[in-house]
Amino acid sequence: MNNKETIDLDSKYIMQTYGRQPIALTHGKGAVIWDADGNEYLDFFAGIAVNVLGQSHPKVIETLQKQAEKLIHTSNVYFTEEQVKLAKKLSEITVFDKVFFANSGAEANEGAIKLARKYTGKGEIISTNNSFHGRTIVTVTATGQDKYKEPFKPLPSGFKHVDYGDSDAIANIIGNDTAAVLVEAIQGEGGIIVPPKNYLKEVEAICRENNVLLILDEVQTGFARTGEMFAYELFEIKPDIMTIAKAFGGGYPIAGFLATDKIASAFDYGDHGSTFGGNPLGCAVAMVTIETIESEKLAENSKNTGKYLKEKFNELKDKYDFIIDVRGHGLFLAIELNQECGFVVDKMREKGFLINATGKNALRFAPPLIITKEQVDKMIIALNEVFLQI
Ligand SMILES: Cc1ncc(COP(=O)(O)O)c(C=O)c1O
Repeated sequence: MNNKETIDLDSKYIMQTYGRQPIALTHGKGAVIWDADGNEYLDFFAGIAVNVLGQSHPKVIETLQKQAEKLIHTSNVYFTEEQVKLAKKLSEITVFDKVFFANSGAEANEGAIKLARKYTGKGEIISTNNSFHGRTIVTVTATGQDKYKEPFKPLPSGFKHVDYGDSDAIANIIGNDTAAVLVEAIQGEGGIIVPPKNYLKEVEAICRENNVLLILDEVQTGFARTGEMFAYELFEIKPDIMTIAKAFGGGYPIAGFLATDKIASAFDYGDHGSTFGGNPLGCAVAMVTIETIESEKLAENSKNTGKYLKEKFNELKDKYDFIIDVRGHGLFLAIELNQECGFVVDKMREKGFLINATGKNALRFAPPLIITKEQVDKMIIALNEVFLQI
């Protein structure tokens, strides 16, 4: 099928909820990806910050094939070696002791909220304006953007929102009924909004003073995206619960939430569950994804190539008045324009580069962490050509 044939079938048979780019992707290798008409693209979006190892990484392919020959799914009625090994690995690379495996970021946040409520015996969750935490009814309620939740009222009670970056607002609103503050390390869908330097530290301190849990949503920032394995390291905090998804399985859907033994022990048998969560195929591929991030030093590449990319963006900012901000950490970067920027995404795609627009007039760049400086240079040349036309 070519691009048009695929798009025609989509409009006939798939619920029309996505504002998609008009191409059907067929295969990829590393950071290069092809569409159904044979066009080639350099990927600076990685499937929304998911494909950290790029496409068709040999270790991922080998693991998927070997594991598929052994066990794909068992349910959580039984134990599997793949699941416990991955859980042990997560405890070794984070400040947490235990994990619950889920399938998506929304489910991870939903489970984290359940754990916080059970542990504290309280109901209220404070989250931030402009945030994004998922599409389930609870997680759209936690999400601080009205457009995602207005049509789906009535929404569950117990959620309050304050401005992101304003720790005083949290201190003012936190109360005896508050179970947790749920916050993104960097707001991703909101436009890669980096909080003020000490914001997360201050939020952590306010939570401690008030015996309230800090849930850090690292669904988008986790797994070396920001140059550290997890963004809590960047901001030097220790959240009580952390949620992970996206890059966790290198493209395979797997998610989770992590906590200390003390907090995790609030869950009793039957309190939470998932049919697919932590299935052996997902756990095996997540394990090899983490090991490859480590062995190929991808956090370092995220830091170094991210710094290089940010420098190039700042050179563009010096050149063009319509660029009002360049921000982000590692390979999680945004350029904000003083105007709507969807057309830049289209023009870049026509030139063979996949990027994304999000938040208020922000171009989002979240390439695979294997991206090279040479590939960055190619993208910058094309971006400059597009900017010249503005
Ligand atoms: C910070 C954050 N949390 C949660 C989610 C929801 O993840 P999922 O789409 O896997 O449910 C997203 C998705 O973009 C996200 O960026």
